[in-house]
Order: sequence, then structure tokens, then C-alpha cells
Amino acid sequence: MGPKARPKCRLATVSPHKLRIQNPESRNMWIRRPLLGHEASGTVLEVGKNVKTLKPGDRVAIEPGVGCRTCSFCKKGKYHLCSDMIFCASPPYDGNLCRYYVHDADFCFKLPDNVSLEEGTLIEPLAVGVHACKRAKVRFGDVVLILGAGPIGLVTLLAAKAMGATKTIITDLVGGRLDKAKELGVDYTLKIEKNMTEVETVSKIGELLQEAPDVSLECTGVEQCVRVALEATKTGGVVALVGLGKFELTLPLENAILREVDIRGVFRYNNDYPAAIEMVKTGKVDLKPLITHHFRIQDSGKAFHMAKTGEGNPIKILIHPNPDDYY
Ligand SMILES: NC(=O)c1ccc[n+]([C@@H]2O[C@H](COP(=O)([O-])OP(=O)(O)OC[C@H]3O[C@@H](n4cnc5c(N)ncnc54)[C@H](O)[C@@H]3O)[C@@H](O)[C@H]2O)c1
Ligand SMILES: [Zn+2]
Repeated sequence: MGPKARPKCRLATVSPHKLRIQNPESRNMWIRRPLLGHEASGTVLEVGKNVKTLKPGDRVAIEPGVGCRTCSFCKKGKYHLCSDMIFCASPPYDGNLCRYYVHDADFCFKLPDNVSLEEGTLIEPLAVGVHACKRAKVRFGDVVLILGAGPIGLVTLLAAKAMGATKTIITDLVGGRLDKAKELGVDYTLKIEKNMTEVETVSKIGELLQEAPDVSLECTGVEQCVRVALEATKTGGVVALVGLGKFELTLPLENAILREVDIRGVFRYNNDYPAAIEMVKTGKVDLKPLITHHFRIQDSGKAFHMAKTGEGNPIKILIHPNPDDYY
């Protein structure tokens, strides 16, 4: 085990997809006690005697998963693939939506002075976007398609632009989410109508871009979107799968075989926090427009209701476990 810091968990966020894990029928997980929260930042209260990198008062973003440090994946630096990972809110481990929380110091990343604790909570999803773009090898000049303008699609858009994508397009069923993507600087949006066929969607993407995307980042988990990504991507390009949907999908794999469109999975992040924090520090990424609502911890029920129903068009809803610090 690594050295320990004791960051005061001052803020935590909720997002709609985390409700899924509360459903006992989903992925055969049984929840026996509150296990919420994996997107959080905090202020360090106390550090263990071996901690040299942090001190009380430091503000940190918390990377919520710590590998076993001894398996072959951990030793090779692919700790995110460790099967013994302790990950916040992944049963049987508790999450960090709480007032005080203890975490390994080397998974607490100091926030620069110009990055707020609120922005710090969104380093976690931004790291997913950074990892997705690294896996997809997004480069300067790339044309990038993102399917789904939920929080993950939006942070992936921000990461892709910061990493050099010069032409971007994003799809969603919900106009409000596409409006948010426009606010974040996407070049084209495509509103998907329920009755639109895959062929129509692919052709509309091509019409808007005037070319095929080099990279497609799938951020819905919906089978139809994975199919569209495979069909729409340029020959020799990459489809990165971020969205989690059904366990089994029917896909037009001839695109992967005959056109060498590579399919790459994306699982969370791996040494991506430092780059994500630097992007925010240097202004390459602005996370603030993603934070749409705030609740005190005692009003968490209202926050989850909003996340579940989408009433009020939330993107990221922050829950403040230490409301005195906020209000
Ligand atoms: N791979 C990972 O490590 C990782 C990490 C975090 C989240 N995820 C997954 O990423 C996905 C996105 O997360 P999120 O928090 O943004 O979820 P979300 O549900 O808020 O966003 C998904 C978006 O997809 C849109 N959508 C649904 N059907 C569509 C369609 N046919 N065409 C276009 N858009 C469509 C929805 O309107 C919504 O805006 C989820 O499946 C989540 O589980 C994966
Ligand atoms: Zn391990």
C-alpha cells in the first residue's frame, strides 16, 4: 500500500449513469449500504508521516481507483486494468460522496491555484475523455465524430479539441445537449430523430463534414451509435468505444476487416490526471459550463431525482458535502 493522505472531501458530483449501479439487477451487483460517488475533489486535512507531496490545506482532485500495485498490469503501468482495483463506489468499496474521506496520497492530485475545487470534481470525467482520445490517437488536424453529448461525450469533445482535432461533430437525441456542445465549441451538431435510419445518419454526418471522420468516439453505449460509428469512419480510421451498453451487440464488422477501421475499447483512465489538470490550468479546457446545478448533501434526493428525470436539463450536478464551505 502506498502512503496515505487524508483529504477532506469537500465536493462530490453525481451524474445520471451512476444511478444504474444502484439497481441491484444491473450487472449482478447487490448494494448493501450507500456506496456513492467517484467524482470528487477535496482539501487535505491530515497526511500520513511518509507523505512528502501533500500537506494540510492542499486542494486535490481524487483519482478514485487504486490498483493492487503487485499484479502484472500494475507493474507494467496499466493499473486501470488491475482486477483487484479498489474503486470508489464499486462494490464492495464505499464511494467518496461524504464529508471526510481517506485516500492514497499518490492518487490525490494537487490542484493549481487557478483551478477551483468544483472544477476539480470534473477532472475524473475529463480524464476519461483524455484517455479516450489517447486510445483513439487523436492528432492535430483530425476530423472527429463524437456520438452522444452527455457529460462524457462533452468532456471527450473538450479533450479532442485540446489534443488537436480541427473539425468536430457531435450527435445526440436531445437539443439542449447539442446546444451545450455548441457552447463548448463543437463545429457541427446533428440531432438524431427516433425514426432516422443508420444510412441517413451516416450520410448526414458526411454532408455536414464534407468528408468522413478520421476518428469516432462512441459515448452513448447504444448499439445503433456503435454501428453508425463503424460505418461513418474514414477507411483506416479509428472507432473508440467509451459508452457502456448491452453486453452483446450486432455490428457491421466488415468495416473493421475490409476497411481497416480499428476498434479500441476505453476503460476509465491510466495516468491521465496530470494532463487533464494541466489542460484546465492552461485554459485549453474550460469545465465550468458543464456544472449546471448545485445541491447540499441533505438535498441529495433532489439531486438524484434531477439526474434521473433530466428535469432542468442538467449536465453535471454537484453535491456539496460540506455546505458551509459553499453557501
Ligand atoms: N468506458 C469508460 O471508462 C466510461 C466511463 C464513464 C462513462 N462511461 C459510459 O459512457 C456513456 C456516456 O456517459 P454519460 O455520463 O455521458 O451518459 P448520459 O446518459 O448522460 O449521456 C448519453 C447521451 O447519449 C445520448 N443518446 C442516446 N441515444 C442516442 C442516439 N441514438 N444517438 C445519439 N445520442 C444518443 C443521450 O441523449 C445522452 O445525452 C455511458 O454509457 C457510461 O456508462 C464509460
Ligand atoms: Zn494490480
